[in-house]
Amino acid sequence: MKISSFEHYKQVYQQSVSQPEQFWEGVAETFQWRKKWDMVLEWNFKEPDIKWFQGGKLNITENCLDRHLETDGDRPAIIWEPNDPTEDHRVLTYKQLHDKVCQFANALKNNGVQKGDRICIYMPMIPELAIAVLACARIGAVHSVIFGGFSAQSIADRIQDAECKVVITADGGFRGPKDLPLKSVIDDALVQCPSVKRVIVLTRSRTPVSMIKGRDVWWEDEIKKVETQGNPDCPAEEMDAEDMLFILYTSGSTGKPKGVVHTCGGYMVYAGFTFDTAFQYNKGEVYFCTADIGWITGHSYIVYGPLSQGATAVMFEGVPTWPDAGRFWDIVDKYKVNILYTAPTAIRSLMSFGTDLVKSHDLSSLTKLGSVGEPINEEAWHWFDENVGKGNCPIVDTWWQTENGGFMISPIAGVTPLKPGYASLPLPGVQPVLVDENGKEIEGNDVSGNLCIKFPWPGMLRTTYGDHERCRQTYFSTYADMYFTGDGCMRDADGYYRITGRVDDVLNVSGHRIGTAEVENAINMHSSVVESAVVGYPHDIKGQGVYAFVISPDKHENEDLTRKDILMTVSRIIGPIAKPDKIQFVSGLPKTRSGKIMRRILRKIAEGDVSNLGDTSTLLDPGVVDEIKAGAL
Ligand code: WTA
Repeated sequence: MKISSFEHYKQVYQQSVSQPEQFWEGVAETFQWRKKWDMVLEWNFKEPDIKWFQGGKLNITENCLDRHLETDGDRPAIIWEPNDPTEDHRVLTYKQLHDKVCQFANALKNNGVQKGDRICIYMPMIPELAIAVLACARIGAVHSVIFGGFSAQSIADRIQDAECKVVITADGGFRGPKDLPLKSVIDDALVQCPSVKRVIVLTRSRTPVSMIKGRDVWWEDEIKKVETQGNPDCPAEEMDAEDMLFILYTSGSTGKPKGVVHTCGGYMVYAGFTFDTAFQYNKGEVYFCTADIGWITGHSYIVYGPLSQGATAVMFEGVPTWPDAGRFWDIVDKYKVNILYTAPTAIRSLMSFGTDLVKSHDLSSLTKLGSVGEPINEEAWHWFDENVGKGNCPIVDTWWQTENGGFMISPIAGVTPLKPGYASLPLPGVQPVLVDENGKEIEGNDVSGNLCIKFPWPGMLRTTYGDHERCRQTYFSTYADMYFTGDGCMRDADGYYRITGRVDDVLNVSGHRIGTAEVENAINMHSSVVESAVVGYPHDIKGQGVYAFVISPDKHENEDLTRKDILMTVSRIIGPIAKPDKIQFVSGLPKTRSGKIMRRILRKIAEGDVSNLGDTSTLLDPGVVDEIKAGAL
């Protein structure tokens, strides 16, 4: 939605709140439907039961591909930059992307995939990942993309939970100087996954892989078969607005990750609308989102959002610091990128290399910048603004979550005022509230509280896969009739929102959500560990680091070796992204008489702030605190 001024935003916002159904109906009408909806919205946050655009029929890929063919068929949809800058880049126009999606969708059908089947995708950041995602959506199969940094065990848990029938992967992938043995990780995972009947393997790195007869097939062979069948088109499956589009697993404060479920109609409307609105995207602009498609940001803002708006998106296989820390700037210069959307952790990491590499590239094509994943500290905000945006590019600091489907609180580029470190104002249609511990709404400005949303929006999660009660408990039971985000937030004197971070036991490490309980469970699997407690601490680059307090009475003589063993265990159980940065061995943990770990004390010690630990006299063994303080890393 194009918004012409701050005044215009205020008008649109007012209208969107006073007549939400009318507002969202207007937005939905800008998309292509096979059949219009009978009812815009039906909802309650008790069960919860949320239905948008009921009775509407559509296919999201017709909105992302087919509808652009006539006018924009030759426009680049995806510009792909390989990990190795000496390898050729690739450009896929809308027409080419459409054809490849249809081809692969037919290959999926040839392999027995039907509407409603769950498909696991574990691939490197190459165009075929987007093609696989869209091919699933084309035929109504539900994709579950798993980030390349997760271990075989994590993959197995996710495949089992969703009972996936097919896995799409590659032989291997590249990330900076590293080779990722993707197929081999999948082989390890599949030992535990009887539901998987077929593995489709794309050639990327051509490392040796085992191909199991009757189960594993090559992507390229399957495409050849489709070609010889001589029917390149694949008509899109007609989907109900509330049919499932995808599952994406995300960490919470307890237990195993949950499968967040998004549906076809509402998610499409929300991803497309928020992309267009926050970035004020104009056709022809080159847009570069540095996220991985394994996370929600890649789903909504590399694939579905931009493509639904006919945008040109740059997709990057590698990492910002390889072969050198000028890689983003190379890409901006090479493709004349206009919009750069990245994460605070990437900015902080690039800051540490100084400004020479930024200055030696031509960044004059940039007009808008974006940030996502964690609160952006003011220093990083100003560095991004001054050195990358040259003081001329609005920074949209987009606050949202996997469960939200798209941006919730964010500036509108060039329209609404910016404040460094602030996600600022809700987008039209979004109704945030702050509440106190008792769930009472905190009104007025210059206040802080827990961030909730009090009215549904089309992109919100509908359930957690296979366990609706968990969805209710996690998001809708803390406060009556509200969606609880898990984030703390302040609203300043002008009514602008600043997210202060999670208020539950979830860490945000380099923009990745990691549950402390999940890491503790992984550490506790190590044979010499009795118990552990994990907290976050401020980390210069990652935002938060992982600090583990571990009880291991008969550890190996060499403490460092035991540390490494524990790291290896976490890598195996969750993946390298969850490895603790610090492991402190302790003889006990500060517990209350009822056995509850006092995390507040551990957090303070991890932060290096031991001056005021509060009252420790209620602890079962107050002496343990001195020991932990003395041994702090
Ligand atoms: C945090 C990522 C401050 C927040 C899209 C949220 C942010 C969690 C911002 C969701 C931001 C995300 N400012 N904090 N602009 N964006 N967060 O599900 O704590 O991976 O709850 O979604 O990241 O992480 P998720």
